This record gives sequence, C-alpha cells and structure tokens, in this order.
Amino acid sequence: MSFRFLPKLTVFLSLSCTPIITLQNLTPTNPLVTTLNGLASPHYPWPHEGIPSSYDHASIRRGHQVHTQVCASCHSMSLISYRDLVGVAYTEEMVKAMAAEIEVEDGSNDEGEIFSRPGKLNDRFPQPYANESAARFANGGAYPPDLSLVTKARHNGQNYVFALLTDYCDPLLAAVEYEDGTPATEAQMGKDVVSFLSWAAEPEMEERKLMGFKWIFVLSLALLQATYYRRLRWSVLKSRKLVLDIVN
Ligand code: HEC
Repeated sequence: MSFRFLPKLTVFLSLSCTPIITLQNLTPTNPLVTTLNGLASPHYPWPHEGIPSSYDHASIRRGHQVHTQVCASCHSMSLISYRDLVGVAYTEEMVKAMAAEIEVEDGSNDEGEIFSRPGKLNDRFPQPYANESAARFANGGAYPPDLSLVTKARHNGQNYVFALLTDYCDPLLAAVEYEDGTPATEAQMGKDVVSFLSWAAEPEMEERKLMGFKWIFVLSLALLQATYYRRLRWSVLKSRKLVLDIVN
C-alpha cells in the first residue's frame, strides 16, 4: 500500500483545522483572553439566543427605561433613532411624545442664531456631552463609549456587559421604578438593559431569522422539485440495458 497521499492528507488536515484552532483561541477560557479581560464572564441563558427565538420585547422596553434614566447621562447611543423604537417597544404616539421632550438644534434663522425645536421621530438619541473632551473631563479622564454596538464590540458581549453591570460590590445600577410593576432588582435591570443593548446592536435579528426559515422552506420545495425532475430526465439513461451480442 502506498503512503504517497500522506503529505497531502496532512496539509488538508492542517488547513481544515485552522479555523477550529483560531476559534479555540477566542474562547473565554483561553489563558490569553483571561489575562486580557480578567476572569471570563459566565454564560447567561438569554431568551433571544438560539435559532428560533426572538427578543423579549417587554424587557427591551424596560431596558430602554433603564438606559434613559441611568446610562444616557454618560453614554451616547448615536446609531439609534426614536423611530427605531416604534413597534419594538412602544407605539408611534408614545415615541412621538418621548421624542418631543428633547430639544434639537436645527439650523440657524435669518440673524444667524441657532434655534432648537422639539425632537421628532427621525432624530437620533441625544448626546450627553458636546464632544469627547467634555465627556472625558466629566468622567475623570475616562471616555464612556457609545453603547449602540457595545454588545458586539466586546468579547462575549452580552454576558460581559451583564457581568460588568452586576458584579461590582457597590451597585452600579441606580434603582428605576418600572412602569409595568416588575420589581427593579439589580439583576432584573441588568438583564433588561442588556436585552435593550442587544436589540440596538442587532435590530434586524428577528426579521433575519424569519427570512431564514422562509428561505429554507422554499428551497426545500425547490429541492424536491429538482430531485423529481432529475429522476424524470435521467430515467432513460438509468433504466437502459446494454446487451453485447457476441454471436452476430
Ligand atoms: C457616571 C457616568 C456613567 C454612567 C451613569 C454609566 N456609565 Fe458606563 N462607563 C462610564 C465610563 C466613564 C466608562 C469608561 C470606563 C473606562 O474606559 O475605564 C464606561 C464604560 C462602560 C462600558 C464599557 C466597558 C468596557 O469594557 O470598555 C459599558 C458596556 C458601559 N459603560 C455600560 C453602561 C451601562 C449599560 C450603563 C447604564 C446602566 C452605564 N454604563 C452607566 C460612565 C458611566
């Protein structure tokens, strides 16, 4: 038996294992990651994890309340507009009323004075500081990052942010009074604000998953049709009989 294929097999195996090795390097238990980030954050069972699951919208709504009342005084969320909340956590009227509470600078009048107007649905969430220097100055030199994509921008995002918010000895989360009567424990507020941030970082998730199911369904019908068609076309070749007539 020849072993000439062995070098090729080794190359193939090492190539096909490369992604696995790279993935393993990124797992939270890897010593390098642990050294960089401290102790790995535990894994929490998020309701929107898993292929067929969608967001907990009541939690997004409560999380938005926590964000507005607690986080928004330091953190911007510059990629989210008020209109994004319509149909997700509030009705259009509620969001319009919410937006109208902020003042937005919108151009200058004939005398060159900047004027402001009440916010509208297509305005972005307001920024807590005028610029990065002002933000750093107010926070002892540290810059509170924009939270729009933060669950994507950190390793093990949602679990990390939840652990960050709930694991301090002094509670980070100031108590909020929920309008739906949910007891505002620290873990509850942490979960809600992380659900809200996860939605903000991936607002298209539910539609994407639904589209996936629709495509799989339609493509499986197409596959059935293609299989049948192939059998039909190939039936002539598959069922022919070759006879070798040696006598004549
Ligand atoms: C008093 C101001 C203040 C409030 C309120 C606040 N933060 Fe922060 N946050 C900061 C600052 C400052 C930093 C940057 C710390 C640093 O870079 O060392 C930060 C960092 C973060 C980070 C990034 C951590 C990292 O690893 O880079 C996240 C996530 C975060 N905050 C989430 C929140 C959430 C969610 C809330 C609301 C529940 C909140 N913060 C409320 C000031 C604040």
